[in-house]
Amino acid sequence: MTHEQSILVVGGAGYIGSHTVRQLVDSGQKVVVLDNLVYGHREAIVDESVVFVEGDLGDRAVLDRVFTQHHIGAVMHFAAFAYVGESVTEPAKYYQNNLAAPLVLLDAMRAHGVNIFIFSSTCATYGNPEYMPLDENHPQNPINPYGASKLMLERVLADYSHAYGLKYAALRYFNASGCSEDGKIGEDHNPETHLIPLVLEAAAGTREKIIIFGTDYPTPDGSCIRDYIHVHDLARAHILAIQQLADGAASFQCNLGTGIGHSVKELISEAERVTGKQIPVEIGERRAGDPPELVAAPAKAKELLGWEAEYKDLTKILETAWAWINGPRQGHF
Ligand SMILES: NC(=O)c1ccc[n+]([C@@H]2O[C@H](COP(=O)([O-])OP(=O)(O)OC[C@H]3O[C@@H](n4cnc5c(N)ncnc54)[C@H](O)[C@@H]3O)[C@@H](O)[C@H]2O)c1
Repeated sequence: MTHEQSILVVGGAGYIGSHTVRQLVDSGQKVVVLDNLVYGHREAIVDESVVFVEGDLGDRAVLDRVFTQHHIGAVMHFAAFAYVGESVTEPAKYYQNNLAAPLVLLDAMRAHGVNIFIFSSTCATYGNPEYMPLDENHPQNPINPYGASKLMLERVLADYSHAYGLKYAALRYFNASGCSEDGKIGEDHNPETHLIPLVLEAAAGTREKIIIFGTDYPTPDGSCIRDYIHVHDLARAHILAIQQLADGAASFQCNLGTGIGHSVKELISEAERVTGKQIPVEIGERRAGDPPELVAAPAKAKELLGWEAEYKDLTKILETAWAWINGPRQGHF
């Protein structure tokens, strides 16, 4: 893997992908993005040096063209459907896009002799926690088709690594959050289901209120606790992972989280402080499949990659998200 080679970022027009693309370009890397724009935004790719290909990762003809036309040294795979509730009612859609389509991508990589792969996995592969914080040895028993589709691809990668010498990193993200420091790009899912943008939309007045799903959990304030990891830190881990694999490290799986949990109520009151706005709140019922607490044990990423979160402060995470939601993203509504 040299700087003469490009990194193919699949799903690079999405939230986490687009932030990673910027960091790759800033580090002097050539980048090709493949995205079908079902959920991504062309304008999230702000660097003119990036080659953008609109297409589907399950389309072998497009992949052959990309691998033939560009000197690709490694692939980062962010593209997936990620709505947990929808995955329960439409599992076929999830197994098709999150499992079957990436098999086509992996075949194309093999055919073109590309063997470094960074995969966006998730803490949803663990299922209901048996202990906390979650380390990588925690049993993986996903409780919905989204988590199952991600775990199945992890298993495919382990088998391909063993049989075909694929070198991969499966990075299990906790709750991605925040936006670029300069506020130019940020989180823009449609529909949005993630707590921080929903809370900040309620603060901005573009959303009527925020519903807290359950206040009777066995947590100090009764609301659910999650580990919010800034998108800048996620992006940095991807770049370190590629370097490690290119330098000869073995394939690995690891958590990407801060190791710090914040409750929904805590997040809302901090968002009120950061924005200076009162956020209308409604208390709702618990949602099926929401564990009380999900927090990463982040030690393995530190050991393998020398990585740990730089954004450990919820205030800072909320400030970057607010700069985006209250600024450039307004134009997207
Ligand atoms: N956001 C989180 O908190 C979080 C947590 C854990 C894991 N993840 C995983 O991280 C990855 C990125 O998440 P995100 O929040 O940036 O999502 P996103 O929806 O913003 O980005 C995904 C991108 O992939 C593209 N895409 C989807 N299917 C495609 C296909 N078949 N061909 C080409 N492009 C396709 C979409 O258009 C979009 O631009 C996903 O795999 C997700 O499962 C996200």
